Amino acid sequence: MRGVKIAPSILAADHADLKGEISRVEEAGADMIHVDVADGHFAPNISLGPDTVRAIRKVTRLPLDTHLMITNPEKFYEPFLSAGSDIITVHAEATSRSFLNKLSKEVHRKDKKLGLALKPSTSIPSWLGKETNPFDVILVLSVNPGFPGQSFMPSVLPKVRRVAKLANSRLMDVEVDGGVDLENASAIIEAGATVLVAGASIFRRGDVKSALQEMRAVAQRTIGEVPA
Ligand code: DX5
Ligand code: ZN
Repeated sequence: MRGVKIAPSILAADHADLKGEISRVEEAGADMIHVDVADGHFAPNISLGPDTVRAIRKVTRLPLDTHLMITNPEKFYEPFLSAGSDIITVHAEATSRSFLNKLSKEVHRKDKKLGLALKPSTSIPSWLGKETNPFDVILVLSVNPGFPGQSFMPSVLPKVRRVAKLANSRLMDVEVDGGVDLENASAIIEAGATVLVAGASIFRRGDVKSALQEMRAVAQRTIGEVPA
């Protein structure tokens, strides 16, 4: 069976010590760093900008998974890409299909990856099933965008299953983001997630390293790498 990647979300980390927080999750075996960009418009919070991504780029070798929860990504994606993001994820609700096609060419030319994010209330766009779909990742948001520490919405699980079916034949990752913790991780993986984003359950539980390792153990047990 496929592996599962764990992407700690630094939105929930200690922002006065991002370098330390990132090095702790890197040492504990994180697969990438999830960077949430909220603009106070698309999402009711303001988080960080390209300068922070550039600074983070210098302190880790892990891929940077930048989730743009912003209006007008057409205008703002480029600084995040050139700051060192490896994956740029844009919201379906915030842009057009024609821009996404254009962006995919640029992102792939630079050897980076493109993600499409869907808010909990957004259905899977019909064109996502097409062969020409240009995405490397589909991010299913399982909380409303903006803040860490919210509760996972189990109502998104059927959508995760449907996205996983589409993704299967195309090597797309299925990323589930929001409220992921030790209790729900198994159900999310069983629904077809290949990337778990986790903020509060990694950075706000006390010991960051053991939180990540416990989530890894749950993921491995779920996919059968380790006997239960
Ligand atoms: C939602 C963000 C998430 C979130 C993750 O606005 O896209 O990445 O902060 O944090 P937790 O795991 O605490 O929900
Ligand atoms: Zn996110």
